[in-house]
Amino acid sequence: MDDRSSLIHQARYAVNHPGRVLPHLRRLARDSWLRMRTSDHVGYYRAVMRSDTARGARAAVGSKSHKRWLAVGRMQFDYLVAHGLQPEHRMLEIGCGNLRAGRLFIEYLHGGHYYGVDISPDILLAAQDTLVRYNLGGRLPHLTPVHDLRFAFLPDAHFDVVHAHSVFSHSPIGVIEECFAHVGRVMKPGGWFDFTFDRTEGKEHQVLREDFYYRTDTLLALADRHGLDAVLMDDWEQLPHKQSKIRLTLR
Ligand SMILES: C[S@@+](CC[C@H](N)C(=O)[O-])C[C@H]1O[C@@H](n2cnc3c(N)ncnc32)[C@H](O)[C@@H]1O
Repeated sequence: MDDRSSLIHQARYAVNHPGRVLPHLRRLARDSWLRMRTSDHVGYYRAVMRSDTARGARAAVGSKSHKRWLAVGRMQFDYLVAHGLQPEHRMLEIGCGNLRAGRLFIEYLHGGHYYGVDISPDILLAAQDTLVRYNLGGRLPHLTPVHDLRFAFLPDAHFDVVHAHSVFSHSPIGVIEECFAHVGRVMKPGGWFDFTFDRTEGKEHQVLREDFYYRTDTLLALADRHGLDAVLMDDWEQLPHKQSKIRLTLR
């Protein structure tokens, strides 16, 4: 994949997609504005989510239409069920957004077994709307805002499954490392952590402070340094989704 931050890529992209130039310029202006007003990445991205959610929660989690919102949620759910998720499992979803997939996990898991965390209070309010819309209140899911990925308020060895879809595609390496350093403590022995990321075969890069592209080897080596075994999920690559998926297990 090209380095999307390079001027050559951006010029070529602008020529091929003239309709996307203005939205990108708007994002650029917002990026500069928010950079001046926030001191760290989480504060910055929380502000991005506030601005995006005000315009619509579905688009804020990256879905252009309701049909696509349903499809991307279903894709995550079907894949995880086909790869081991059982109703009795306890699940932690990092960056649960407005429950695009979470609503399906909540419906499937035993009551109280779903725990969603997100840095954005705005998207968690939208997640509550999803619970109401799909009549899921009786399943008593937990939805909690966080300001880091240390999970200090969660118990040891509690979750069978940890899931993060399209979260590390918006995270600098320090945020991912913080997660890898702490996630093992809250995972049960035999549990696993699936996450997606934007994969590049070339130079690692970022677009604004919103989108981050990593090489697979970088994330595998980082997991290794934190005592986690990692595999790239090859069959996920066959699905109609741009990101790649890695599964981590406790060594
Ligand atoms: C593209 S959305 C995806 C939401 C959900 N996973 C889904 O598939 O619909 C990314 C979500 O991750 C959240 N997020 C981003 N960085 C995060 C972090 N460091 N910790 C927790 N949540 C984060 C955002 O607020 C947003 O709700």
